[in-house]
Amino acid sequence: MFFKKKEKETVVTVDDRLKHIAFIMDGNGRWAQKKGLPREYGHAAGAKTFKKIALYCGDIGIKYVTIYAFSTENWKRPEREVKAIMKLLSDYLDEALRDLDKNNVRYIFIGDKGIFDDRLREKMLNLEKVSGSKSLTLNFAVNYGARDEIVKACRELIREGNENITADDVSRHLYTALSPDPDIIVRTGGEQRLSNFLLWQASYAEFYFTETLWPDLSTDDIDNIVLAFYGRDRRYGRIKEVPEDKK
Ligand code: FPP
Repeated sequence: MFFKKKEKETVVTVDDRLKHIAFIMDGNGRWAQKKGLPREYGHAAGAKTFKKIALYCGDIGIKYVTIYAFSTENWKRPEREVKAIMKLLSDYLDEALRDLDKNNVRYIFIGDKGIFDDRLREKMLNLEKVSGSKSLTLNFAVNYGARDEIVKACRELIREGNENITADDVSRHLYTALSPDPDIIVRTGGEQRLSNFLLWQASYAEFYFTETLWPDLSTDDIDNIVLAFYGRDRRYGRIKEVPEDKK
């Protein structure tokens, strides 16, 4: 990791150690409520923040961004809120298609798309098809639940008649099969839990929790997250290397 001059005073860039960042964008509702606004306004602000943050991650060299937009449990929210999120999603899909060449993003929608109405599902499938291989892959989690994802993978492996299932086999049957495991998972909004997000893929991920509500997350915050990541000692079960003369 090093610094280079760009539009901001300093901008971090990343190397191969930080290929994949995942976000749980929590705090939209509280952001709106603090301003005396209905929760839907928080999601609209959150969607704007997401676009800015995803593109910035691509700018600094991150190759995979995964975003938790809607979980299998989020359907339990009031109908008005669910409708508002679906409208934001639909608008976003139109915008992403329009800006395809400009943004250089490959879109993958992770989760069970079967639940969405035909129009919305077609938009997702089309965007996946036309966006092809790009410098940034965006895994957009909609109607996503990690336990469902693991169960789906197991069912597929059984159906294939695989009797010697390995961890790699499972990984290859997850929605995220085309991405490496996340290097860091960021959750905004003060809670410190995974909420059924990337349970399998998170095995060796670093975690970063911040009180900042998602709509307030800035590109400077991303710089700080990157710096914090490079300060972590990722040992993957090994012990820290001790130089011979210090043993
Ligand atoms: C969590 O905040 C956020 C969600 C469950 C939905 C996030 C969805 C969007 C931002 C819109 C999706 C569309 C695009 C284009 C990204 P919360 O509502 O749980 O916040 P709270 O904890 O403050 O209530």
